[in-house]
Amino acid sequence: MTAGPTWEALDPVRGLSNHSSGKMGYAVAAAARKAGADVDLISGPTALSAPSGVRLIAVRSADEMMAAVQNGIDRCDIFIGVAAVADYRPAHAEESKIKKNDERVTLELVRNPDILSWVSAHHKRPFTVGFAAETNNPLEYARAKLASKNLDLIAVNHVSNQNNPFGSDQNQLVVISATDESDLGRKSKTQLAAELVGVIARKFHERHKTQNS
Ligand code: C5P
Repeated sequence: MTAGPTWEALDPVRGLSNHSSGKMGYAVAAAARKAGADVDLISGPTALSAPSGVRLIAVRSADEMMAAVQNGIDRCDIFIGVAAVADYRPAHAEESKIKKNDERVTLELVRNPDILSWVSAHHKRPFTVGFAAETNNPLEYARAKLASKNLDLIAVNHVSNQNNPFGSDQNQLVVISATDESDLGRKSKTQLAAELVGVIARKFHERHKTQNS
């Protein structure tokens, strides 16, 4: 699974990132481990330490995160993409610190790879779970994302004044599959992670049963 933000370097001391604390992803990693899974946690830079029994693979950029995911895909039954991966990165990272010589500078950004879509299109596709954080029509966007990224499940949080999950210990999640939706409500990330892992385990076994019958 992936968690945390990514860091897209501009030069050796600066970069583009986001407010993801990694708390939701680390809670999911701990819950999956507690449920008996062997967990690889591919994480962007956070202030958190790895949950006990979880293998932490520390990365910085989306490209590094993608390489780590590609490296582990062959031994992966379930992939959970919780990371807030930067959509764009600077086209060039300078090797030395950028000087403030000009009044105005223009930053050219290029698209990052979509890690989750790469996983769900892989020939050894694991059971694939995505996350979505939306400010408007979250459920509609999440249903569209479930289909466009070819996911088995998507966990969606509505980012609003009442629920700003970034850095918080609380969150609010709705879990959507092609056939049903369950509102897990607003509670601690630890509790939500345990319930989410329960839904993932149930759906994963259902899929195996259908494939084997
Ligand atoms: O498209 P969007 O960024 O809203 O999708 C969010 C989901 O896709 C999350 O599960 C996130 O981890 C994953 N993602 C990814 N690689 C990207 C962008 C998003 O794996 N470049």
